[in-house]
Amino acid sequence: MSEQNTVGAISQAIETARDSALQAIKSASDLDALRALGVELNKKESQLNSFKSDMGKLSSVEDKRTIGQLLNAAATLISTAIETRTGEFTELEISNRIARESLDLTELLTQRRRGHSHIVTQATQRLEDVFVGLGFQIAEGPEVETDFNNFEALNMPKSHPARSEFDTMFLEYGEPGSVLLRTHTSPVQIRVMKSWKPPIYAIMPGRVFRRDTPDATHMPVFHQIEGLVVDRGITFAHLAGTIEAFTKAFFGDDFSSRLRPSFFPFTEPSAEFDIRRADGEWIELGGCGMVHPNVLRSGGIDPEEFTGFAFGFGIDRMAKERHKVGDIREMYTNDLRFLRQF
Ligand code: DAH
Repeated sequence: MSEQNTVGAISQAIETARDSALQAIKSASDLDALRALGVELNKKESQLNSFKSDMGKLSSVEDKRTIGQLLNAAATLISTAIETRTGEFTELEISNRIARESLDLTELLTQRRRGHSHIVTQATQRLEDVFVGLGFQIAEGPEVETDFNNFEALNMPKSHPARSEFDTMFLEYGEPGSVLLRTHTSPVQIRVMKSWKPPIYAIMPGRVFRRDTPDATHMPVFHQIEGLVVDRGITFAHLAGTIEAFTKAFFGDDFSSRLRPSFFPFTEPSAEFDIRRADGEWIELGGCGMVHPNVLRSGGIDPEEFTGFAFGFGIDRMAKERHKVGDIREMYTNDLRFLRQF
């Protein structure tokens, strides 16, 4: 073999070795693999380094220089490649770590919504706030009631015609017809009178039940709020004044109220009360009256010593009016698109 050929062959072998080293650097899978590769390429016995000893076999100075320059250039290329790739891996690792350790707060903003109370709950809470502001205390009673508290104690004995106005749902419990789902919040009056001593200034919100087919203005389950005042010297004027004060505090100063004669078995005299909107339209709100002496006696209170007034009205319709809901059934279908509006 002529020396010329030998130089050519060595040059080519160097280029092949260089290219395969560069390829290996390019395809190293991570920083560790790259480091191992670097160690491997720097070894004395590595393919490229072995060419250095081949150089000694060359007699021509020129050939030695050619091969020497080729080896140096290859070594520079390889170390630059390792440096570049190391930089890339380090950057990747840093950005991976940042991604791993960072908290994605946008998720909180876009996916988690804060819920809110149902419009009937909102109305109930506002009513409670207003009455507490007028000096009332809040009381609650059970939804499953006795026939006695729901009717009898409220001056509606078994044969009373007013009972048929309440489409009652009875429970199969105890004596037939003795336990029911309360048809109004008025039985809580009896419970409060029995467990508290006068003076009583109480409001009693809660869920009530009637055998009714749902339509745009009726639901078989709805909400009422009851008011009861029992004290010495309470008159009808206190009732009218309280209704007026409540109307202004709850609906606003441009509203007013009126009482119309009516009948309820548990009050005497009885009235219905309406509120007047700023545009002059009257809206029926509920019933009220002076607590019937029989009802005071049912609650263990002497009607000769104490008098009182009571009132009661529906909450759902107020919420419906306030939010201009067309169909009361929509309030209970649990459709979030509807509920989220309020
Ligand atoms: N309980 C009656 C009803 O459900 C409403 C009512 C009327 C309550 C007059 C009262 C009252 O306290 O005095 O229709």
